[in-house]
Amino acid sequence: MALVRVASTTDVPEGEARRFEVDGREVAVANLGGGQFRAIHDVCSHALAYLHEGEVDVDLETIECPKHGSTFDLSTGHPRSLPATQGVAAYRVKVEGDDILIETEDEVSA
Ligand code: FES
Repeated sequence: MALVRVASTTDVPEGEARRFEVDGREVAVANLGGGQFRAIHDVCSHALAYLHEGEVDVDLETIECPKHGSTFDLSTGHPRSLPATQGVAAYRVKVEGDDILIETEDEVSA
């Protein structure tokens, strides 16, 4: 397990997501408010679309793919609605001070 810094907490506005590249990984980090952040693979499992460009639902803890509208669980990466049927990688997130860290060798299986 390796903890890698992805971003600062101020880089991601509340209720939104931003894209970061870490060790060759494309990571979408979402800010759910209250110091809660989630991180998943940024590329949709259905076709080529970037999930960070989609809408974050802070109550349901999902992000909606901007291309065809599948929603993904931000904690597990699993799709909650069609047309996507495959999940995306989800990363465990730790916040230390102003730093958002992800565990890169222990991805939650999609
Ligand atoms: S590209 Fe994401 S649902 Fe189709």
